[in-house]
Amino acid sequence: MKTISRLFLIAGMVSLSACAPSQKDSEVQNASKSENQVIETIMSRRSIRKYKQQPVEMEKLQQILDCGINAPNGQNKQSWEIRVVNTPGYIAELDSLNRSLALAKGIDASKIRHVSYGAPVMIFIANDPSYDFSQVDCGLLGANMILTAKSLGLGSCCLGGIARTMKLPEAESLLKRLDLPENYNLLYAISFGYPDESPAAKPRRAEKIKFVE
Ligand SMILES: Cc1cc2nc3c(=O)[nH]c(=O)nc-3n(C[C@H](O)[C@H](O)[C@H](O)COP(=O)(O)O)c2cc1C
Repeated sequence: MKTISRLFLIAGMVSLSACAPSQKDSEVQNASKSENQVIETIMSRRSIRKYKQQPVEMEKLQQILDCGINAPNGQNKQSWEIRVVNTPGYIAELDSLNRSLALAKGIDASKIRHVSYGAPVMIFIANDPSYDFSQVDCGLLGANMILTAKSLGLGSCCLGGIARTMKLPEAESLLKRLDLPENYNLLYAISFGYPDESPAAKPRRAEKIKFVE
């Protein structure tokens, strides 16, 4: 998972580069926070873990996907594979498998949440391990999709744990149904849907940013 963390750190840095004001221009940045739609979208996005039972319109889903594949990517290799699930059957099977695995581990039934968080759409993203920047490509793809979703009134949540679950022998048939090329690796998924919660922003560690001369 170290590489996944690195990938999202890089993706986050790209997003944050639009948001981290230098001391000199912080006044300008602060003013633009409320006026600049892109900055507003980035700063108000939250991971959503409760969704309305409302389908996502195909037009919006298509926009999310189009913006995703228009992300910057190394040498324009587009070293990703994208699988979209917007019908309930597959997601219900995944939730049910996750539940039985959690129960087998002795986790209290009342504490087990749907792995999809009840989202009507899940997008699975796989990378090409033979390309050293493929995880970066996939992270930027996801960032574009998440921010597009937010700008269209939709919520989302990145799901890294799901990639581990889906590599267990019990999930073999679910993984197979994604029909990924043999050499591709399921990296993560993202749930999408209309949010049914408004979580507060989680604190960020600004001290991790250093200006170097
Ligand atoms: C690579 C990655 C994996 C993640 N995996 C999960 C996950 O398995 N389950 C989950 O609920 N959230 C997951 N998240 C969401 C993070 O917990 C969330 O982004 C973080 O706590 C910051 O909160 P925010 O997105 O609301 O700003 C993941 C996020 C990333 C980038």
